[in-house]
Amino acid sequence: MQYVEIPVPSLKKGEVLIKVEAASINPADCRIQKGLLRPFVPQFPFIPVTDVAGEIVEVGSAVQEFKVGDKVVSKLIFWKAGGLAEYVAASESITVPLPAGVSSADAAGLPVAGLTALQAVKAIGTKFDGTGVGSNILITAASGGIGSYAVQLAKLGNHNVTATCGARNLELVADMGADEALDYKTPEGAALKNSSGKKYDYIVNTTNGGKWSAFKPSLSSHGRVVDVAPNFGNFVASILTLFSKKKLSTVILSLGMEDLRFLL
Ligand SMILES: NC(=O)c1ccc[n+]([C@@H]2O[C@H](COP(=O)([O-])OP(=O)(O)OC[C@H]3O[C@@H](n4cnc5c(N)ncnc54)[C@H](OP(=O)(O)O)[C@@H]3O)[C@@H](O)[C@H]2O)c1
Repeated sequence: MQYVEIPVPSLKKGEVLIKVEAASINPADCRIQKGLLRPFVPQFPFIPVTDVAGEIVEVGSAVQEFKVGDKVVSKLIFWKAGGLAEYVAASESITVPLPAGVSSADAAGLPVAGLTALQAVKAIGTKFDGTGVGSNILITAASGGIGSYAVQLAKLGNHNVTATCGARNLELVADMGADEALDYKTPEGAALKNSSGKKYDYIVNTTNGGKWSAFKPSLSSHGRVVDVAPNFGNFVASILTLFSKKKLSTVILSLGMEDLRFLL
């Protein structure tokens, strides 16, 4: 990684130029820097990071929704990225205005982590209009980027939430609304056991270390794991459990500007 001076990007007609005020770094960005996604990305030189927020300083000729001075958040295209710079050009179609009262720092933390959490929580049938009855669910790695949004969204959907995290984050996770927080290093936490002994209707897994063999005994008879960080074994389980009562399915983040507006 080098810190360098580069020209301010020039705009295509459907793009806005954002003066970046905040950007957030996700695990995938770290994997790119370590070279783990070669030979696909990056094409050098490469400016990493996809989640940015800031102020529009220029608009392309075909841009309809935005003007200079607007505060916005963008989820940049994964293969192009560009967020760790003073200026970035973003397509209007992947940019959303910041509502009053939402800071650039808060907004920049939303796109990848927030969208993945929302799409995982939607995948278990969560309703956010107050009509959902709620299920008994477990969220792993609840102190992480995805997990912390998942806990708050799950509570909004009336679920009963047990969550795992490190000991230092138990209070944080409880403050975010989890009904019970388990330290994953204790025997109960490692066994994913809540104090009531009740099995889970759904497990939202957000840690690469979560194994289907550990989840299966904790699921109710028709329970399902929704896995956003599947390891190889869980990928295999997603196929092998297609016709089983207990299932594991994966969720891959898809770009959804309506979802981002909802989160904001
Ligand atoms: N499916 C998709 O499209 C998609 C999109 C984005 C990211 N991801 C993947 O999702 C994963 C999580 O991303 P993130 O941004 O949330 O990561 P993150 O912010 O780095 O969070 C990781 C969390 O894992 C917790 N943790 C570590 N070991 C654990 C264990 N044994 N049990 C429970 N929790 C444990 C840590 O908790 P403590 O700090 O409390 O110890 C930490 O808070 C990454 O692998 C990422 O690549 C997938």
